[in-house]
Amino acid sequence: MCGIVGVLGEHEVAPILVEALKRLEYRGYDSAGIATVNDGVLDRRRAVGKLANLSDLLVHDPLPGKSGIGHTRWATHGAPTVENAHPHRAGAVAVVHNGIVENYRELRAELSDNGIRFQTETDTETVALMTEYHMRSGLGPVEAAFKTIDQLEGAFALAFLFDGEEDLIIAARKGSPLAIGHGDGEMFVGSDAIALAPLTDRITYLEEGDRAVVTRTSLEIRTEKGELANREIRRIKLEHSQADKAGHKHFMSKEIAEQPVVVAEAIRSYLPTGSDRVNLPGENLDFSKLDRLTMVACGTAFYACLTAKYWFEQLAKMPVEVDIASEFRYREPPIPGRTLALFVSQSGETADTLAALRYCEGKADKIVSVINVPESSIARESDLALPIHAGVEIGVASTKAFTCQLAVLLMLALKAAADRGTMTDEELSDHAAALRGLPTALNTALDQNRPIRKAAQRLSEARDVLFLGRGLMYPLALEGALKLKEISYIHAEGYASGELKHGPIALIDKNMPVVVMAPRDALFDKTVSNMQEVMARKGKVILVSDDDGIAEAEDGVWATIRMPHIHSSLSPILYAVPAQLLAYHTAVAKGTDVDQPRNLAKSVTVE
Ligand code: F6R
Repeated sequence: MCGIVGVLGEHEVAPILVEALKRLEYRGYDSAGIATVNDGVLDRRRAVGKLANLSDLLVHDPLPGKSGIGHTRWATHGAPTVENAHPHRAGAVAVVHNGIVENYRELRAELSDNGIRFQTETDTETVALMTEYHMRSGLGPVEAAFKTIDQLEGAFALAFLFDGEEDLIIAARKGSPLAIGHGDGEMFVGSDAIALAPLTDRITYLEEGDRAVVTRTSLEIRTEKGELANREIRRIKLEHSQADKAGHKHFMSKEIAEQPVVVAEAIRSYLPTGSDRVNLPGENLDFSKLDRLTMVACGTAFYACLTAKYWFEQLAKMPVEVDIASEFRYREPPIPGRTLALFVSQSGETADTLAALRYCEGKADKIVSVINVPESSIARESDLALPIHAGVEIGVASTKAFTCQLAVLLMLALKAAADRGTMTDEELSDHAAALRGLPTALNTALDQNRPIRKAAQRLSEARDVLFLGRGLMYPLALEGALKLKEISYIHAEGYASGELKHGPIALIDKNMPVVVMAPRDALFDKTVSNMQEVMARKGKVILVSDDDGIAEAEDGVWATIRMPHIHSSLSPILYAVPAQLLAYHTAVAKGTDVDQPRNLAKSVTVE
């Protein structure tokens, strides 16, 4: 993962680099560092932990210079220590790196054979040392960096800075995204356009294998084969104000609270006012010409896909396979003709999802993605990219992106049903009306904050928690458990209610809270039977249901969380809110780092 930046500026770069790194901190926050060239002299500062530690260090030990590179790290090779923090330096060369150099052991052996010693355990130091080694053997900085890049295997985005070179950054991309920003007499490098948003809106994306020679007034890009490449400059529209918590204590709570607005925006974008038919932006997709759907994603986005499987199968009568990207990409699954391959990703940069997409290129009839970042690699490599309109999501635990993904996937399933003639006009109108009412229902769900906080107080004392759901509530049980474990560090598992007696019921005793997601729908009675089995064994049930469901089944439960009544197809979108708030308040009660939980990063750009 990791985020990298580079600036060839007109002003002191240290504060600019730190500000840009702040916008990349979602990629990792184990350590951070910057290097600059000032009066020809290369120097660096690095600090372990959050970016704030680097900022503090720079107050006491400033780093002047108008050219610089910076890095925020998610540790892969080597513990998060100052020595292992980037930029890595070898003599005249400083390097920042996002990705993994897979053949770094061989390269280290080669360097060792030439008497070169190592200071760190990282793969990146090898890149700096190899470049320095080539420079010592007589090559200039550009040639030395290019020669090193040619030797690297794996995935990387790299930026190089050199002692004595105030107007030069070398940048390279393979497997990990990298953007070059164009200013007026200034140039920028960043892992994504968001990092560069306050600096410029003119962006050139490097393509696979590209390497760039960047100066304040020029950009020369070469392909892996060394040929000059012409890459377009795009004008990017991006939000600048992402650091604003709008009065909330955490980004996560702000993002949970934003859901009625952003989900409304997603619905408005696909369901034009006055129409009951879903309208896709851009190229038209005709589901009547497709036989099956393969959906691939990771984490929360995978649970959105699992939910969508129910919709596509029930509403559009379409066979659907759903897979975790890291499994799909190596399993070599056959992709029969007339298959739509659908990839769901908030960031649009998840390495496994991107690799799965590339696997489907030339095999699937069409490649469609559901993404939150329109400029992302996954969006750019799809035949059709469908934005979810969630706005920038900063909290590492995905919330508003999940509900917006669900809303867009449901609308896609309705479009499939309309194309394939599997729903009547009346059924389509019913769904459209229910979707338009969803933002109001989400607001009502948010009003349940207080009882949810009370229930969370109890959960915060638990060691393990189970989440149960049936049908459309099953993927949500998985998502509820994921949310809880990732931010509160409480062990949690989601199960299909019907699976309980096939094993997990052995875990139930008086110390086990069980969250049951059960709207009063066709499967309610069955879920309640499973809930009774839990209570008979002294398990403590938190029942999340609507008025009817609670009236029928609240006897003997530990706590209830009341949701408004909703069309059964939409229940997973609505019930996501109590699942998220439960996790949020539990984490707050435990005092964990809600927005940046340990060991995680927002965008997983390594395998
Ligand atoms: C969990 C979470 C992760 C992501 C996963 C995929 O709250 O955010 O599980 O959903 O890493 O990320 P994207 O959607 O960016 O591909």
